Amino acid sequence: MTRLKYIVLIALFTGCATANKQALTRGAYNEPHRPQIHFSPEAHWMNDPNGMVYYNNTYHLFYQYFPGGTKWGPMHWGHATSKDLMHWEHQPVALYPDSLGYIFSGSAVADVNNTSGFARDGKIPLVAIFTHHDPAGEKAGTSTYQNQSIAYSLDDGKTWTKYANNPVVKNPGIKDFRDPKVEWYEAGKKWIMTLAVLDHITFYSSPDLKNWTKESEFGKEVGAHGGVWECPDLFSMDYNGQRIWILIVNINPGGPNGGSATQYFTGQFDGHTFTPFQTDTRWLDYGPDEYAGITFSNTGNRKIFLGWMSNWQYAQVVPTDPWRSAMTIPRDLGIEKVGEKYLLTSRPSPELNTLVATSTTSENINATDYNVTATAGKITGPFKLQLSTEKLETFSLTLSNNPGEKVVVGFDKSANEFYIDRTNSGKTEFDKGFAKRHIAPRFSSRPNDEITLVVDNASIELFADNGLTTMTEIFFPHETFSKIQIQSPNNFLIKSLQLTRLKSIWLNK
Ligand code: FRU
Repeated sequence: MTRLKYIVLIALFTGCATANKQALTRGAYNEPHRPQIHFSPEAHWMNDPNGMVYYNNTYHLFYQYFPGGTKWGPMHWGHATSKDLMHWEHQPVALYPDSLGYIFSGSAVADVNNTSGFARDGKIPLVAIFTHHDPAGEKAGTSTYQNQSIAYSLDDGKTWTKYANNPVVKNPGIKDFRDPKVEWYEAGKKWIMTLAVLDHITFYSSPDLKNWTKESEFGKEVGAHGGVWECPDLFSMDYNGQRIWILIVNINPGGPNGGSATQYFTGQFDGHTFTPFQTDTRWLDYGPDEYAGITFSNTGNRKIFLGWMSNWQYAQVVPTDPWRSAMTIPRDLGIEKVGEKYLLTSRPSPELNTLVATSTTSENINATDYNVTATAGKITGPFKLQLSTEKLETFSLTLSNNPGEKVVVGFDKSANEFYIDRTNSGKTEFDKGFAKRHIAPRFSSRPNDEITLVVDNASIELFADNGLTTMTEIFFPHETFSKIQIQSPNNFLIKSLQLTRLKSIWLNK
């Protein structure tokens, strides 16, 4: 047997064996640190969101999945669907490794005009465009083991057929050549593929998703380059009648607070070339735990972003079982002009409101030392906290539990920075870089602020200045946090403080 055939057999076997194992191990969704309002697989390893597409009133979330363990392994595409972006139904594994390799990250589109010719009996094809990563080629030391392939589904993503002539974009001899994100470019009536190639982006175009032509390259000399470029996304949004193009580029390592992170560029795209407006480096999320984030396709003018809520620095050793990793809360992206810069904003998608259990609002609080839970009651599950102030001052908001473990989030006026500090947040010993304080700049120069925190059993997401500064952070306390205390050395007045308790998306369905 040739080495290649052997490796392929192993890969296929892993797929089958692990599918059985999956049936035996199911998460109950009440385990320690289990996210209650975020997507996580019942069991086993998950990383990047893939193939996110809205079709037939359904959101499809595919994801990098290894059904054979709780660490990264031969990659499959897991699959889940949702009607409201919040409650997810698990679906069978969508794509298994095959003779061309593991199924790495990529995207999916609804080919409504049947440009691919894959339609049958009037059924519109969903087409997945992904990287085939050949582990045998990697082991053998070749540089062409990552290639782009396609597969299609005629039953709303349930079953998939891989295209017979895969791969559709062949590797030109660059090891890191992956994560195709495809979008329809209406002005040119063609598909555009945005591909991460080591330290830059290559754009390709195609009339039919099968035949691809290289258009241009972008990015070697711009943006952050502390690590390899991965998982890009290109789309446009309207800002006061003007079309602004956004290019998302994930990078690992080299993030602003260490490890993996998501940077973005604003600019113009003419169907061939991306021309940036900016020369500075910008991050979509400054926290350490949003990675590989991209947007759903086929959502019209609305752009919904979702990221993997972890960091390659420690993702494989975080203390959870029988699963590892969750996704962020879906976020609606927007654009705000600050000075001459078009900045991206992120806000929790409004569907989060479908989870509201109860809500308490307190007004005109002097927050020099304010015990939120003394008034609003003990925290017992996930919640959203919205704080509105006419004059932002230095403050800290401490989430804590009975043993005294805590996560502190706040604003430091003299440094003009938001921060999240998880130094004493409980279990941190699994990684020496985990117990840290992380910072993010404030971009708004307005005196007032609207801050939203979304807190789950093992995560906090900060959206400050209506989403101009965003931070995502995970943590693992021995007991869930039950208290909230706000403190400020100044005379910090909170105009309104709304604490909204959220219902679990998994329990008591
Ligand atoms: C990003 C990434 C992608 C790759 C996938 C493999 O987290 O490294 O570049 O396709 O994960 O699982």
